[in-house]
Amino acid sequence: MAYDTIITGGTVYTAAGPKKVDVGIKGQKISAVRKGLVKSGKSSKGGRTAAKVIDATGKYVIPGGLDVHVHLELPFCGTVSSDDFDSGTKAASRGGVTTVIDFAIPYGKESMADAYRNWRKKADPKTCVDYCFHMAITKWDKHGPEMAKMVKKGCPTFKEFMIYESEGWQSDDRAIFGALENCKKLGAMLLIHAESSRVLDELIARSHTKPLMKKYGARLHGMTRPNFIEAEAIQRAVKWAEVTDGTLYIVHMSTAEGADIIRDAHRRGVNVLAETCAQYLVLDDSKFALSDGHLYACCPQIKKKADQKRLWEGLRKDDVCVVSTDTCSFTREQKAMWKGDWTKIPMGMPGLETLLPIVYTHGVLKKRLTMQQFVEKCCSNPAKVMGLYPKKGVIAPGSDADVVVFDPKKRIKVDHEKMETNTDWNPFQGWSLAGFAETTFCRGRKIVDDYKFCGKNGWGKWLPRKSAGKL
Ligand code: URP
Ligand code: ZN
Ligand code: ZN
Repeated sequence: MAYDTIITGGTVYTAAGPKKVDVGIKGQKISAVRKGLVKSGKSSKGGRTAAKVIDATGKYVIPGGLDVHVHLELPFCGTVSSDDFDSGTKAASRGGVTTVIDFAIPYGKESMADAYRNWRKKADPKTCVDYCFHMAITKWDKHGPEMAKMVKKGCPTFKEFMIYESEGWQSDDRAIFGALENCKKLGAMLLIHAESSRVLDELIARSHTKPLMKKYGARLHGMTRPNFIEAEAIQRAVKWAEVTDGTLYIVHMSTAEGADIIRDAHRRGVNVLAETCAQYLVLDDSKFALSDGHLYACCPQIKKKADQKRLWEGLRKDDVCVVSTDTCSFTREQKAMWKGDWTKIPMGMPGLETLLPIVYTHGVLKKRLTMQQFVEKCCSNPAKVMGLYPKKGVIAPGSDADVVVFDPKKRIKVDHEKMETNTDWNPFQGWSLAGFAETTFCRGRKIVDDYKFCGKNGWGKWLPRKSAGKL
């Protein structure tokens, strides 16, 4: 048989735009993208051309999404994030995400190679979609010299956090400058969590009093992180990228000011890329005033409507090239650890299952993005920037058969009880979203059928990469 599966009748989003073509899958690869694959159900030898034919009439056929910023089973804030490589990648599948990139973080005296091994141990048996890791540099003098070895191992993306001193993860300017120099030599890329730690600590200390906590509760999370906390840090990291010519990628950018800094840097020819997350595009800090407002705390925090507007504009104008989720889920019980003190809230939210639906519904259907831009920001750009293109992120012959079929008219109400995500709440609970995957293929295997997960643990394959940072 020429193909195992043919997807026919849909609008296929190829690199050259939407096309009314068929997609033929053979084994783990896409083997043909053209009209007439079904040929009335017969091959030239008289047999059927495919074991299975999926009628996608009226549907969109897109490359599997990549969520390049997730934290599954992460020890953080005195607990462990509640979505692991099992529930997290099942959630990914339902949301049409077929590749995830987590962050392998060395603890204590561990090397990056130790962190890599620890994360592979957690991920390999459980993961249902393809995956790899960014390597976190938490001790510059130990990890800087290890960067070349990690690139050889297939990990050309590194992460430094400007905050999180108490977790033992914080990097200073020397570490950022040095890592960017190394990235330049190695064809690698440095990801930065950009928040200005010393001023942030000062603002938190000034408000960390019983009367203020009683008065403002979770609102203090937003009040103590004004936009300049992110903007100053991005500006500083951009300066280090400018003088070293190392490639910099700002993760989870949440502010209008950040988008302006990136735009200006691009005009000067600086190698800097920026990602935002779905929550920064659709949620704002009024959530912190709700009785369960602490659930929405993440770092950096959700900002104002004006920031959302500028981030959507940034996506349209390519100041921002990727949308991810920064998935770091916690249950209500875990979030309750705050007991009225916002500095003790486990920081993060679930998002993998709703990434594509949020960007499609609030981007494409609200005419903030075209369908092609949606595919770029959630599929092809993340694959390119992370060194996975054209294996991932495109529907083309020879690419992995990571394919999503979705019905642009079908809306589903978000309900944490019916989701794969392992939380007893959801930041988008009750929202009516289009863009959930009706069918998802990951390397030729059907992992979602009729909106339900049907894949298996361990199907996900580790993805070695050679270099990163090119759009
Ligand atoms: O709140 C968040 N974002 N939690 C995960 C850690 C990080 O900063 O990405
Ligand atoms: Zn971060
Ligand atoms: Zn993160």
